[in-house]
Amino acid sequence: AKNVGILALDIYFPPTCVQQEALEVHDRVSKGKYIVGLGQDCMAFCTEVEDVISMSLTVVTSLLEKYNIDPKQIGRLEVGSETVIDKSKSIKTFLMQIFEKCGNTDIEGVDSTNACYGGTAALFNCVNWVESSSWDGRYGIVVCTDSAVYAEGPARPTGGAAAIAMLIGPDAPIAFESKFRGSHMSHAYDFYKPNLASEYPVVDGKLSQTCYLMALDSCYKRFCDKYEKLEGKQFCITDADNIVFHSPYNKLVQKSFARLVYIDFLRNARSIDEAAKEKLAPYSTLTGDESYQNKDLEKVSQQVAKPLYIAKVERTTHLPKQVGNMYTASLYAAFASLLYSMECELAGKRVVMFSYGSGLTATMFSFKIHEGQHPFSLSNIVNVLNLDGKLDARHEFSPEKFIETMKLMEHRYGAKDFVTSKDCSRLAPGTYYLTEVDSMYRRFYAQK
Ligand code: ACO
Repeated sequence: AKNVGILALDIYFPPTCVQQEALEVHDRVSKGKYIVGLGQDCMAFCTEVEDVISMSLTVVTSLLEKYNIDPKQIGRLEVGSETVIDKSKSIKTFLMQIFEKCGNTDIEGVDSTNACYGGTAALFNCVNWVESSSWDGRYGIVVCTDSAVYAEGPARPTGGAAAIAMLIGPDAPIAFESKFRGSHMSHAYDFYKPNLASEYPVVDGKLSQTCYLMALDSCYKRFCDKYEKLEGKQFCITDADNIVFHSPYNKLVQKSFARLVYIDFLRNARSIDEAAKEKLAPYSTLTGDESYQNKDLEKVSQQVAKPLYIAKVERTTHLPKQVGNMYTASLYAAFASLLYSMECELAGKRVVMFSYGSGLTATMFSFKIHEGQHPFSLSNIVNVLNLDGKLDARHEFSPEKFIETMKLMEHRYGAKDFVTSKDCSRLAPGTYYLTEVDSMYRRFYAQK
């Protein structure tokens, strides 16, 4: 199989959201702390009728319908998620309900978990399957589904929720450049979920930022090395038409891109002009550790990077700013934003992706974009995504109502024997929702 990659994709996020500006007032923090300090505009969240299973049922059903794919044509289904609902039964098995009723139970794959990286692991598994000798000619589907919620405090405004489904196969408009991959994996306690009675993570916010940037450096250098070995020339950021980052919050994406500019400066790459070199020169002898903590370097490199950030990154930030951190789905939601804003202009371009999951696992990889053929064409993908339509149809909750919802969800997490209010008036037709968890913890869903 050639040009294996993403043939089609769809995204679902809850229609319920809270404005960051309203949260700033409610949380009595200084004005601009969430909007400018974190760079976030709005945050989606699940109410009691939605969860990672309902969202993934919704998005997979929608993907199959909108691209007119017979469920029998699916041979592999992989899920990436870090939202634990069951410690044994995979989310994938819930999704089998869609395929069983069409008589297809011959579908490989289960769930992959490591913080926000599970979706990328699932994607690599699926692509590897299509490229392998065990491939049977059918499509794969990768689902990234997460509900990111934090305890009260500075991390709470960095929540979000969404599910993405991607159809995988050969001759894809979004094709992997499989040879260029750089990974960095190590042991860290930056963000983890050791308390199985709570949905909330334990998070060392500052450490997680540093871990993210260190992993970025390491992946980028390895990516460059591999490129240089294979292509016989240096790789630098101007060789990427666009760069998409995992987006816990927008400020970190701005810092990450600036970091790549700084690394290119240290590598004496051609992407850095004389004026930029002069500005960055005072920071050329910092040790790695010093450079992660140096606020002046952060400021100067962001300033130097600004024009390139606008050209290569800004268009990827639309959904992550509006929906928040979607954990496994964040990187692919950022990519969907790019597709949505560039459509066919993206054909022929190289898009570099950076995936990060705390704990920690990270990979930088790249796509080569082609125009594709209907229904797997860039223009049809953009039609199906309908991001503006989905964003416009949202309902804003007040911070008080958001907090009330979080309290109810805390109570419901890991609970049994309850029925939901079944208030699905805000949900679009076709959306799945949770109706009941019975005395055996079995979960039941209905479709609106
Ligand atoms: N106007 C403008 N900017 C402001 C304002 C204001 N009124 N107030 C604060 N800021 C700025 C700060 O200067 C700081 O900017 P800087 O990062 O450029 O220095 C920024 O807002 C954040 O403020 P801090 O006080 O430094 O940090 P805070 O205590 O608010 O915590 C954090 C932020 C660490 C991101 C927290 O939200 C968190 O822990 N989030 C979850 C962890 C996370 O997402 N980590 C990322 C990778 S791991 C993952 O993906 C889950």
